[in-house]
Order: sequence, then C-alpha cells, then structure tokens
Amino acid sequence: MLKKTVPIPIANVACKPFLKWVGGKTQLLPQLIARSPKQFERYFEPFIGGGALFFRLQPQPAFISDINPELINCYKVVRDDVHSLIKDLSQHIYEKDYYYALRNADRSAEFSQWPATQRASRLLYLNKTCFNGLYRVNAAGQFNVPIGRYRNPKILDEKNLLACSQALRHTQIIQAEFTAIEQSVRKDDFVYFDPPYAPISETSDFTSYTKQGFDSAMQETLSQLCKTLDQQGVKFMVSNSNAPLVLDLYKEFNITFVEASRTINSKSAKRGKIKEVLITNYRR
Ligand SMILES: C[S@@+](CC[C@H](N)C(=O)[O-])C[C@H]1O[C@@H](n2cnc3c(N)ncnc32)[C@H](O)[C@@H]1O
Repeated sequence: MLKKTVPIPIANVACKPFLKWVGGKTQLLPQLIARSPKQFERYFEPFIGGGALFFRLQPQPAFISDINPELINCYKVVRDDVHSLIKDLSQHIYEKDYYYALRNADRSAEFSQWPATQRASRLLYLNKTCFNGLYRVNAAGQFNVPIGRYRNPKILDEKNLLACSQALRHTQIIQAEFTAIEQSVRKDDFVYFDPPYAPISETSDFTSYTKQGFDSAMQETLSQLCKTLDQQGVKFMVSNSNAPLVLDLYKEFNITFVEASRTINSKSAKRGKIKEVLITNYRR
C-alpha cells in the first residue's frame, strides 16, 4: 500500500539584509513586527531597499519591488545564482584604486552588457566598502559615493547570503515604480511601504537613492494610493518621518510615533534619536 506523503514545511532560516541601506529598518523591527497585521493573504513591499522586515518575517507568498535596477538585479542574483555570486565576491580586494575602478565601471558603455552576477557582485562590494554604505547616484545615474574607511570590511558573508537566497526562493522580485502594485494587490493582502522620508528640515533631506528623487508630490501620490487600497480592503503600513506633511496626508489613519537613531545628516551634531511615524489602516 502506498504511504500518503505529507509535505514537510521548510523552516525559515534566520537571516539579515545582505546590503546596508540608508533608512534600513533593522532597529525598528520590534515596532514594525508588533504593528504588522496578525493575518494577511499575500505580502507586498514596493520600496524594498535592504528588506529588513521582509527578511525577518519571510512571508509567503511575497512580492518585492524597488525602482533601483542595480538593487533589483542583486536580489534576483541572490535568489537565482548565489553560488556564482559568492565565487565572484571572494575575488574582491579592499584597496583604493581597485574601489574606484569598480565604482567607475558604470561610466562606460560596456557596463550595460555586464553579466547580472558581476553587476550584483559590484554592488555588494561597493556597499560594503563605500562611505557609510550609502547608495547615491548623480543626475546621470552613476554611483558617486567615495571609498569608506574600514579596518577589515566583510565583503563576503557567505552564510547570510545562502540564508537570504533561501528566504527569496519563492519571492517575486520586480523592478517597478511603487504605483505599479495597484494592479496586483487585492483584499486582505498586506503592503508595507517604506518610502524615502519626507524631509523634516531643509538639511535633513536624503532622497538621492535614485536619479529622480522623491518629492512632496510623490508623497501625496503615495498617500492617495493608500486611500485607494484602504477602500479595497487591502491592509497597509507606512513608515515615514514625523513631518507636518506626513501627519496631514494620513490624518484619517492610525498614526503611531516611534523613536529611531539616524545617522544620515550633514551635521553630525544632529545625529541621535528622532521621532518617526508608523501609519496603519487597521488595528491588531
Ligand atoms: C527607505 S528605503 C527602504 C528601506 C528598507 N525598508 C530597508 O529596511 O532597508 C527607500 C527605497 O525606495 C526606493 N525608491 C525610491 N523611489 C522609488 C519609487 N518611485 N518607486 C519605488 N521605489 C522607490 C529606493 O530605491 C530605496 O531602496
């Protein structure tokens, strides 16, 4: 007699973001988890960045996206070709001329022909060795962050990359504007939006993740999208700064204040704990 086979659930493997990302949410994870809905159908994260919440929750099914083509390429390579990526990463060296040669590769016409794995390896190398792990591009979309000072930067974290690859196995990874998710989400899905923050003051602005930036008109478009999703029964959570614009745009939803230490500020004296907000259209 044939034995009935019961699928064995594959346990999630603990992992952390494989990139350092400005606005990374690792330190806010306890608050984000506490405010995520207890139940939902599918998970969407359209400003994935380093993906701190995604890697912690490892929700399934999941759809992650971002406008940054190099970032999205990197996620796909980590999912689909992690062993070649690990091999390529092991060849890099932390040295000034080497850094600038690799950084400036995107100024040449051949860069668009580079294989996906090599491009992902370049991004990871730059991320681990550049100043503050910043991702910043100029108006032509060229990476322009100087080399950082580290004693012995960990360019390759093989164990974590393998764990991230496993976490991404069944995840859909898409390069898109955040507005594109409107076509895909439906009732009872959960969307976590972590956009570039609205500036709280003129000096605190950091929106150069992309050559397009993220201005107040885009903050408004995002809040309109949230209103549409709310009417469709989609659950959403937004993180943003404590700027008057944000408090106004989301005044009809639940707003919670949380504290975070932020280091991206031109004046180091302004580093320290600042208030940020989490907005949801549900209560747990
Ligand atoms: C605050 S970061 C996300 C941080 C992430 N949650 C983490 O834990 O690392 C914002 C992300 O939004 C992306 N982004 C900026 N403008 C966008 C747009 N119009 N559509 C989609 N993604 C965008 C940037 O490339 C960046 O990765």
